[in-house]
Amino acid sequence: MSTDEFPTDSPAIVTCGLPYANGDLHIGHLRGYIGADAFNRALETLGQETAYVSGSDMHGTPVAVNAEQEGVDPEEFALEWHRKYEETFPKFNVDFDNYGHTHDETNTELTQEIVRTLDEEGYVYEKEIQVAYDPDADQYLPDRYVEGTCPYCGEKARGDECDEGCQRHLEPGEVEDPTSTITGNPAEYRKRSHKFFRVSEFSDYLTEFLDGLEGTSNARNQPRQWIEEGLQDWCLTRDMEWGIDYPNGDDESTEDVVLYVWVDAPIEYVASTKQYSERVGTDEYDWERVWREDGEIVHVIGRDIIQHHTIFWPAMLEGADYNAPRAVAATGFITINGKGLSTSRNRAIWAEEYLEEGFHPDLLRYYLTTTGGLQQDVDFSWDAFQEKVNGELVGTVGNFWYRSLLFAYRNFEGTPDADVSAEVEERIEGAIGEVREAVNDYSLRGIGQAATRLAQFGNEYIQRNEPWKLTDEDPEQAAQVIRDCVQIAKAVAVLLEPITPDKSQLLWDQIGEDGEIADAGLQAALEAPPRSFAEPGELFEKIEDDRVAELNEKLEERVAAAGDDEETESDDTAADEATNMADGDTDELEPLLEDRIGFEEFQDVDIRVGRIETAEGIEGADDLAKLEVDIGFETRQVVAGIKQLHDLEELPGQKCILLANMEPAELFGVESNGMVLAAGEQADLLTTHDDAEVGEKVR
Ligand code: MF3
Ligand code: ZN
Repeated sequence: MSTDEFPTDSPAIVTCGLPYANGDLHIGHLRGYIGADAFNRALETLGQETAYVSGSDMHGTPVAVNAEQEGVDPEEFALEWHRKYEETFPKFNVDFDNYGHTHDETNTELTQEIVRTLDEEGYVYEKEIQVAYDPDADQYLPDRYVEGTCPYCGEKARGDECDEGCQRHLEPGEVEDPTSTITGNPAEYRKRSHKFFRVSEFSDYLTEFLDGLEGTSNARNQPRQWIEEGLQDWCLTRDMEWGIDYPNGDDESTEDVVLYVWVDAPIEYVASTKQYSERVGTDEYDWERVWREDGEIVHVIGRDIIQHHTIFWPAMLEGADYNAPRAVAATGFITINGKGLSTSRNRAIWAEEYLEEGFHPDLLRYYLTTTGGLQQDVDFSWDAFQEKVNGELVGTVGNFWYRSLLFAYRNFEGTPDADVSAEVEERIEGAIGEVREAVNDYSLRGIGQAATRLAQFGNEYIQRNEPWKLTDEDPEQAAQVIRDCVQIAKAVAVLLEPITPDKSQLLWDQIGEDGEIADAGLQAALEAPPRSFAEPGELFEKIEDDRVAELNEKLEERVAAAGDDEETESDDTAADEATNMADGDTDELEPLLEDRIGFEEFQDVDIRVGRIETAEGIEGADDLAKLEVDIGFETRQVVAGIKQLHDLEELPGQKCILLANMEPAELFGVESNGMVLAAGEQADLLTTHDDAEVGEKVR
């Protein structure tokens, strides 16, 4: 890996977390797969050599438990889902260079080889541990066969993951008060011998690795904390049949165990790359160079699997003498109408459902990549979807494309014969620079915004120059303006291609270009389009209000039919999900954090008394307000979701409490430089009542 900016001289590999082959895909999965796809496409437009791979995660209890419930063989069960996924991805323009699965020969062999190396290098040892056992079912209870309480945060947890609480990985035997998910009985403990990987020996290595890691900050900060708390060694084997055998088959202690699913799953990133290389030839793409020498490895994952990608996986790679990842970009969760996505409650937008409703995949791609920053949780509602599509894709991009091309076609039968003006050329160059920067910041939203803002500029440009008046008065000037507009239209299509590949291709075709826009590269944004083209059509269509009402109703009915009883924890094993399961209930009190912090850590949080000077609404954002807050030293602009409860006119003059050293963020295009504190469902603003002065620190 290099630390140079993209594009670099080394080949890149982009991956997304493997979906467990155990149930239908939903919008939570899609956020990651579309995000990684868009990132890979964006790298390509920069001229970076790159490939995008993934595969189905076939092993482990997430698959075994669900297969058992259906009474089918896990292999058959997983393969069926695998085939379905393979069919689904292209429908969302998710274009893998290779999509394999963890049970295939390539991955099985590579996994065994890597584990053998770790063993030979002295990183593996055997240890006797207590393993949960169900006497009635007469079987051991690895991972999802057992449920209990997380020892770290006290939330309900599965055997190997605290999926509703602190998101930590749990080792066998760690979950407290374990009960069997097969019979509901309390689990017994039995002694068993298992293989362990010496992760603890990699603390220093990992600390350094994290210092250089690119991607999102959550993928560096969480693991730093875990390392500080002290790393535990990692159990590599499980008492079950479904999975990949431990490599030395003659070793008695590993006879009845298979490798833990999290060992062979990430190795599929490598195996899938290998399959790609074998297909296209190593001259074209060399998997060994990428994974063992200097490849730029970029993992896009959900934030629930940060620990696996920033602790266990890099330690395995290092121990087996492989290359280290350059970036881990961990996305936030998706919520639906403000509540946690829940497959068991059917509060989800399913991949198939979206397509059946007849929406173009590029609309969802645009929504999911540009609605929030990568690490932010993103809410999906049909209303917000409509607003985004109608406002930005129809209103800004589509409108500009259509009006400029139509004008060009009617008056010049295509692109007028003129050179692009200096002003427009500079503006396009600026947008290209913004995209380049966004890619290097792993900001998909930045890419989308650069394109949409350029279209917005186009609209203003056409408005300001009024070419319709010029056609008679000054035909030469009219030709100039329209020539500029066609160039902007083309540039927007090129910039937006990673996010809306189909729509961009259609625009490309409309202006008479040949071939694939995906192969054109960013510089094409400045290259002249062909001279003539046919009558253009509109590429985006408005979503009507009654359509949204209908979709909302369907979703509500569906959730109600699934029994939207927020108090009962329904059986969620049937549908677990990958990169996305924020299944928490929003109206329960959050559990108290068990981890205490020292006074010094508290001192790092700079909370100040402020006074609100002005408050105004933000267009397109119902609950948000833009505030100017005086904090003594300076006045800060902050965006706060407080409009539900507070009347904007009454806010100026009021004291508030502001987190002053919060990272700046941008919400609905408005910069927020700090965070006002509030509590409660409707965001009740915190304040002080007596002598606390503006600028004073909260202690
Ligand atoms: N299947 C896992 C999940 O859904 C993700 C595996 S990602 C990999 O949580 F790193 F293991 F490949
Ligand atoms: Zn926990």
